[in-house]
Amino acid sequence: MNNLRLGKKMTYKNKLALLALCSALFAAGTAMAKPGNADKGKEVYDKRCTWCHGAEGDGAGAAQDYLNPPPRDFTSGNYKIKTSSFEDMTPNDDDIFRMIRDGMPGTAMPGWSDLLSEQEMWDLAAYLKSFAGFDKPPEKQVDYGTQVKSSAESIEKGKKLFEDGDRCVECHGKSGKGSASKRLKGGGGERTWPRNLTKPWTFIGSSDPKDIYTRISTGIAGTEMPSFADPKSKNVLSVEERWHVANYVESLAKTGMTVNAENTVIKADKVEGELPATTDDKRWNESVPTAFYLVPQIIGEERYFKPSNDTIIVRAMYNDKMVALLMEWDDRTKSIPGDESAEKIADEPIAEDGVAVQLPVVIPTEMRKPYFGMGDESHPVNIWHWKSGTKSEPEAANLLNSLGFKAIEKRDAAAVGLKTVSSYSDGTWKVLMYRPLTTQAADKDIQFAEGKFIPVAFAAWDGSNNSEKGSKHTMTTWYWLLLKPATGSRPLVAALAIMVLFAGGLLWWARSAGRAAGRQH
Ligand code: HEC
Ligand code: HEC
Repeated sequence: MNNLRLGKKMTYKNKLALLALCSALFAAGTAMAKPGNADKGKEVYDKRCTWCHGAEGDGAGAAQDYLNPPPRDFTSGNYKIKTSSFEDMTPNDDDIFRMIRDGMPGTAMPGWSDLLSEQEMWDLAAYLKSFAGFDKPPEKQVDYGTQVKSSAESIEKGKKLFEDGDRCVECHGKSGKGSASKRLKGGGGERTWPRNLTKPWTFIGSSDPKDIYTRISTGIAGTEMPSFADPKSKNVLSVEERWHVANYVESLAKTGMTVNAENTVIKADKVEGELPATTDDKRWNESVPTAFYLVPQIIGEERYFKPSNDTIIVRAMYNDKMVALLMEWDDRTKSIPGDESAEKIADEPIAEDGVAVQLPVVIPTEMRKPYFGMGDESHPVNIWHWKSGTKSEPEAANLLNSLGFKAIEKRDAAAVGLKTVSSYSDGTWKVLMYRPLTTQAADKDIQFAEGKFIPVAFAAWDGSNNSEKGSKHTMTTWYWLLLKPATGSRPLVAALAIMVLFAGGLLWWARSAGRAAGRQH
């Protein structure tokens, strides 16, 4: 169907109707292929795409060495997100168009719909195909049969198929978090990690069940993710079975992990008696979780790496003596240097996993710009840093005071009563940190108080990924910790007034961090 040519003979009213129809179809995601002009596509390509994909389309652009996954080598003919059958390498024009329009979340590939016209994107699709010599449309398409609607029963069937014979578990782990049991490689020999299926916002080809069904049917070209429609696969699945598995994968989404940019405050409830002593204490379920994006640390020396930790969830509680913070984040690998099985799947050299909490030594009372990095001369910070330990050294809680990157003082964690408890299970770390509300050294340690908005920031290390260590880590911006006082007390009202003053700036900040997160991993 060629709308442009048809349009010439049509009345204005008809054209409008057709336009409306087409945009409705686009909105629904069913792009109708328009013929593209490869020569015109080359002009746009040379201007917009060569930086990453290279002038020859071979993926060897200037940015190549900095990106993981690397920019696609179009001469390889590998297209990850396609709706043509696994038997046919050629993608549909719609498939290429869609990736150009929407981009691929969690990778450097941006969506271009704001910058390029639709026609330019079809022209690009035509030009890209020429790199691999694709001159005919694909002969076979994915067979969708009849879509099985999601239901408890279908999800249950899907779960069984997911786990049977290690079908998906082998790479994605039992709970789908991608807790790795083997090293995986991409087409260019680069290290890759299986997707964490509980985080659908990281899917490069959308988490709609139909898209998941398509990925299971075609596999993901240039990666180890195989096709389960291929009868030669020992784990082949029928059409109906693939719908069950797609429904199951969709059900894995952990919505509690989703970052809500408006939630900038970790609210700690006051409890009577002892605080929970373990990471799995049932009482944590009553504590409201707050999720934050982790973005690569960009201030220190180690600038460019592909982080594997992308979000962290925090809960907090306190009693009349102590405050407790529970940090939870997905990490595919438990990184213990010296441990043989941990080293086998880690990038070399393996380092320890870790998490850190940063708090100002003095809780600010007046409004001023929060400070980035690790404090500065007039704004010292406490850093509580937990490390997962090595085979010969146990895990440890470290206490640091910092006036910036170059002025870090190591202190005695036990002396101020800083304690940690950790657990790792099936791709998730939980680390609990406690400290007494007050200490002997008010000039060196934060003195916690009810009803105040206390700035807090977090950092995390995945020691199996790119040897994250020292200043090479992920971090959040500053958020707030609030020890909720008993209802009706006045301090909260005062604190709320300060909070409102801060809030505008912070919301903007949190949102830009979220956008940065989308761009950078
Ligand atoms: C900042 C770097 C960057 C720029 C600029 C860029 N891309 Fe990409 N592109 C990537 C990366 C990285 C991937 C691979 C993502 C992956 O493998 O998951 C990719 C993948 C693709 C794919 C593969 C889709 C698939 O299904 O496998 C297409 C098509 C594509 N890019 C088209 C373009 C076009 C057209 C342009 C210019 C308008 C462009 N890209 C500009 C980084 C970039
Ligand atoms: C041999 C390893 C392996 C097996 C087995 C495997 N996968 Fe994957 N899967 C991967 C890898 C690697 C990726 C990430 C590919 C990439 O880098 O783009 C992935 C990605 C995915 C994605 C993300 C798609 C997207 O749009 O980002 C889904 C969904 C998925 N797999 C589902 C499954 C299901 C369901 C099964 C079992 C029927 C399965 N996988 C079996 C390795 C595997």
